[in-house]
This record gives sequence, structure tokens and C-alpha cells, in this order.
Amino acid sequence: MTFSNKWDTCYKNKTHSMNNWPFSDLVSYVMRFSKPGKSKIRVLELGCGSGANIPFFLSLNAEYFGIDGSKTTIRKLKKKNPMLKNNIVVGDFTKELPFQKKFDLIVDRASINHNPTNGIKKCLDLVHQKLKTNGKFIGIDWVSTRDIGYKSGRKTNDIFTKSYVGGRYYGVSKIHFNNEKHLLNLLKNFKILCLDEKIYKSIIPIKNKTIAAWNIVAQKS
Ligand SMILES: C[S@@+](CC[C@H](N)C(=O)[O-])C[C@H]1O[C@@H](n2cnc3c(N)ncnc32)[C@H](O)[C@@H]1O
Repeated sequence: MTFSNKWDTCYKNKTHSMNNWPFSDLVSYVMRFSKPGKSKIRVLELGCGSGANIPFFLSLNAEYFGIDGSKTTIRKLKKKNPMLKNNIVVGDFTKELPFQKKFDLIVDRASINHNPTNGIKKCLDLVHQKLKTNGKFIGIDWVSTRDIGYKSGRKTNDIFTKSYVGGRYYGVSKIHFNNEKHLLNLLKNFKILCLDEKIYKSIIPIKNKTIAAWNIVAQKS
């Protein structure tokens, strides 16, 4: 089990941003690669957080399921979306995906990378089991080792995972970073349909700050 309870504290104290809008890359990769609309799709979101991506999936008439380790955020989400009360659950996605049905699509937007390598491997095994044949996994914003945070973080016993005592990653949990070789190894049981690395160089307010993350589309064949 690798879920950090710091997340629940963040949602209780409202110290993590309560996003209400879907993330643009999630929207564009889902529209591009899973072609929703032709037939009703069943979707699972790993780490649904404050539910930013839920309205997007409901607008596609998808059958939406979600899992998050924070009791506080799941309680709020059920109150806000009573029709989803049986579909969204509290749980650690590195331990189990407690759903009976299999999914056409499983998505993660910046949740898996708050877990260390061993937890991510276990989670991806569970994702593989829970996808239908030809089902897709879309991972958005998996932090890259080229991101400024990789150098500034404190080492842990996992070379791809860093901890923080300040800065933008402080207060949530450790962060897992990826290079291409590590990613391909993590996803070795899938067919990779797309692997993009986004590298942004911020100029103002901090000059030449590099923010870098991967977007992934993988298929169970
Ligand atoms: C940065 S937020 C992203 C939330 C949402 N995906 C979004 O795009 O707004 C990360 C979320 O992942 C959840 N999380 C991290 N590790 C988890 C784990 N092992 N099991 C379940 N949830 C986890 C946290 O509770 C948090 O809500």
C-alpha cells in the first residue's frame, strides 16, 4: 500500500487546489485515442481527486467510475454527484481496483506519479487486468526526470522518487519521475500507441525553470 494520507489532510484543509475544470491534455488525448461517442464507453479514473475530469466524461455519456485514497474528497464527490455514489470508491489503486466490470478506458491525470516504483508496477498490473482486450490506458502528466523538481528533491531509496521539504511539491506526497527507459519498462505489458514528453521553459516569474512531463497512451492487446 503506497497511498499517502497527506492527501486526505490536503482535501480536509483545502490546501490542494480544488480543480473544477478538466485538464486540456486529458480531453484531447481521450478524444484522439479512445474515440468516445461511437458506442458507450466504461471509464475508470485513478485518483479522481476533486472530480475535475468527471463533467467531461459525463458529457460524453460515458459510464464513469473513480477511485481515490482520500475519504474526504470521495465523500464530497458523492454529495455533488449522487448518481455516481456506487461508482466512486475510497481505495488505494496500488493495492486493488475493487470493481467487478472491465473497462474500455482507464485514465490517470497526475495521480500515479505520487507513488513509488513498486506501487506503480502493482497498479499497472491491476490496470492490465481490469482493461478489456484492446482497452486503453491514458496517463497524463507523469513527471519527467527533466523537470526541475527531480534535481531539487531529496533522494529516497527509489532513484525515481523524491521527497520535498518546500516548493510546489511539498505537502502532498513523494513524487515519482520518469525517463523514457523507465517508462517503457513500467509499461512493458502494454502496446504503446503514443508517448509524448512535454518540456516547458518558464520565463516569468522564474527564468528558465523547466517543467517536463509525459503523456502516455497504452493498449492491452
Ligand atoms: C494531483 S491529484 C490529481 C487529481 C485528479 N486526477 C485531477 O486531475 O485533478 C492526485 C490524486 O491522486 C490520489 N492518489 C495518489 N496516490 C493514490 C493511491 N495510491 N491510491 C488512490 N489515490 C491516490 C490523491 O488522493 C489525489 O486525489
